[in-house]
Amino acid sequence: MSEHTPRQSHSRVALITGAARGIGLGIAERLVGNGWQVVLADIDGRECEQAAARMGPAARAIALDVRDEDQVREAIRRTEEWHGGLDALVNNAGISDPHSGPLEELELTDWQRWLDTNLTGAFLLAKHALPLLRRRRGAIVNISSTRALQSEPDTEAYAASKGGLDAFTHALAISAGPEVRVNAIRPGWIDTRSPDQQQAEPLSAQDHAQHPAGRVGQPADIAALTAFLLGPDAGFVTGQIWTADGGMTRRMIYAD
Ligand code: NAI
Repeated sequence: MSEHTPRQSHSRVALITGAARGIGLGIAERLVGNGWQVVLADIDGRECEQAAARMGPAARAIALDVRDEDQVREAIRRTEEWHGGLDALVNNAGISDPHSGPLEELELTDWQRWLDTNLTGAFLLAKHALPLLRRRRGAIVNISSTRALQSEPDTEAYAASKGGLDAFTHALAISAGPEVRVNAIRPGWIDTRSPDQQQAEPLSAQDHAQHPAGRVGQPADIAALTAFLLGPDAGFVTGQIWTADGGMTRRMIYAD
């Protein structure tokens, strides 16, 4: 531990949005395994409650729509009431389906649904969590996507929301330092299906082999990087966007 590494006298506390399932759940499980106290926040309050109950006393649940500022304010207040502070915020909640249909037919309300959930939600959480994070010299991780860099047709709203999240990340890192570090992760293809589903309908050999790393990703891959970025070993790392995609964005894909 260097002289600049803050010493922890308390159990560290993380608030993770969209934690009822998928990548967010994987991050919560990993942090609990590392000794953190976690608050799982999700629009699906019931599933979130069940996930926290399975994790045991280190986990608590809050029903939260990240688009609603009053609900965000209340989630932060309750986190402080429960734990006396906050060390980490993971902005993971999102509409994970990137397909919004042809742009000419995309309703403004649908465009806004993607932007509000994937981008504005992160702004609201960061805004209200920052005073607590500053006090404990904490960290933020935003879950972006490789779709901020590359696209299929008819995915404009999702891609724009994640591109915005990348820019929000580096801008906030400059404003929030030196007390608070801010990084983002761009996952590639992460198989978030349950182990039963994965066994019943396995991915093809080609699905895996096309990745330079030889396989499709799992929530645990994103959770491991998140845990590193939130921890003291990443104390000199801020404002960065980390791609975790098995190398897919480094592969040339021109047709022969
Ligand atoms: P998922 O759909 O399994 O989980 C998303 C969670 O966010 C759900 O529990 C959902 O209830 C919650 N949520 C949605 N809207 C919300 C709102 N307004 N307020 C609070 N919670 C809300 O998705 P997955 O795959 O676990 O994705 C998590 C994050 O990772 C998303 O931001 C997604 O865009 C990103 N991502 C996922 C990839 C993948 O291959 N699975 C690839 C790249 C990025």
